[in-house]
Amino acid sequence: TIIVLDFGGQYNQLITRRIRDLGVFSELHPNTISAEKIKELNPAGIIFSGGPNSAYVEGALTCDPAIFDLDIPILGICYGMQLMTLHYGGKVEKAQHREYGKADIHVQANPVLFEGLPKTQSVWMSHGDLIVEPPEGFTVDATNPSCPVASMSAPEKKMYGVQFHPEVRHTQFGDDMLKNFAYRVCGCSNEWTMANFIDEQVAIIREQVGSRNVLCALSGGVDSSVAAALVHRAIGDQLTCMFIDHGLLRKEEATGVMESLGRGFQMNIVKIDAAKRFLDQLEGVSDPEQKRKIIGNEFIYVFEEEAGKLENVDFLVQGTLYTDVIESGTDTAQTIKSHHNVGGLPEDMKFDLIEPLNTLFKDEVRKLGTELGVPDEIVWRQPFPGPGLGIRVLGEITEQKLEIVRESDYILREEIKNAGLDREIWQYFTALPDMRSVGVMGDSRTYDYTVGIRAVTSIDGMTSDWARIPYDVLEKISTRIVNEVQHVNRVVYDVTSKPPSTIEWE
Ligand code: XMP
Repeated sequence: TIIVLDFGGQYNQLITRRIRDLGVFSELHPNTISAEKIKELNPAGIIFSGGPNSAYVEGALTCDPAIFDLDIPILGICYGMQLMTLHYGGKVEKAQHREYGKADIHVQANPVLFEGLPKTQSVWMSHGDLIVEPPEGFTVDATNPSCPVASMSAPEKKMYGVQFHPEVRHTQFGDDMLKNFAYRVCGCSNEWTMANFIDEQVAIIREQVGSRNVLCALSGGVDSSVAAALVHRAIGDQLTCMFIDHGLLRKEEATGVMESLGRGFQMNIVKIDAAKRFLDQLEGVSDPEQKRKIIGNEFIYVFEEEAGKLENVDFLVQGTLYTDVIESGTDTAQTIKSHHNVGGLPEDMKFDLIEPLNTLFKDEVRKLGTELGVPDEIVWRQPFPGPGLGIRVLGEITEQKLEIVRESDYILREEIKNAGLDREIWQYFTALPDMRSVGVMGDSRTYDYTVGIRAVTSIDGMTSDWARIPYDVLEKISTRIVNEVQHVNRVVYDVTSKPPSTIEWE
């Protein structure tokens, strides 16, 4: 393991990602972690991240100074290197010009971080402060005209620092530097693979569960499905999954989940058909927030009722991801969390939690799913909101409107897939505005619904841009929708980014 201490830099998660890509497990920890705790974790190396502030000002983020005496190799990146400099008595000052962007560095002698790499190479700089005097015992390993100490080290102390960002793709040989640090300095090797992860987790889950029983609420999404598959690998029939069909799923979604996980995996899945309950509750309701609340609450009632019927269940599986864990407590987290209102289960339930994915990032979960044999259509499923089509039929929900969304969405998905765009576009769906307009079909006037197409590119759903779907693909989708879906005479494409829009229309 290599741990990363978080000093607030924007690329911190990326550092753990890059280290993991080298086959070395890596986790982010707060800058306040004690040397004692680190000793317990026993990492092979530590990385100090970048940070937005100056290291020399009052109140700057620091770390437990005893960490420097643990005899564990440390790589300081940007702010991290400046902190190291101050700790060992060097000097950090404000730079004449804030440096931001690509820069060429020149490597001196043959330092271990740069082993096997060219002497001149381009790196990504982003800093307002500079090291003007490296501490005693440190040698300067790389320089640049505007940044004399671009890299430094004191190998006998196991201390290394870089002013630039090796974790960012614009740093030409960034991966190689991190590899040199992980493999050569820390002595790690490429051992953290999904196959090993599965073995390790299977053992932990078996130990934790013993002969008791486990419940998992399946949504059909990637996270809960992969978590279920992993737990199933560990304990087989001791796992029961519950799949609540609230009647707001997409076409063929429920059958798809039952088919691939139930039959394919021989997983024990109880399917609850609660559509009528949900639709009854939603009748006559058109306010988006109220709709969400009704769906969320009803979901909890159904779950509690059904879970109560099962005997001897002590554990609950949740598909919590690493990003949910590290982001909890921050501002961004709150926005994300409020989205988890459906499938978010009551806190007073008497279950112990099993969260086997809580050290993984989304794309690692996908890799894990594939390794476990979970089919592609689940592993690569696009995000789908808990309230489902309930927030894609704008205004009051009726069975007829749901049918229009289901059918048009199915056509959209089919054509996006045919065009080979399904992994490129982050999320794509149709929505049904609460309006009708005039059209002409054959020789007669129509007065029918308009279907909206939403397709966005995004990294995490927090911001997004509308996907530039080629016109001929849009044309095909539009033609098919008005021809094949009853009561639709118009198709529009949503060309707004988020912000100011949101991805969903409600
Ligand atoms: P918005 O519409 O806020 O959506 O831009 C951002 C992402 O979150 C999904 N979303 C939800 N997911 N429960 C969820 O589990 C919800 O209530 C919910 N609302 C939006 C949305 O599909 C998009 O991916």
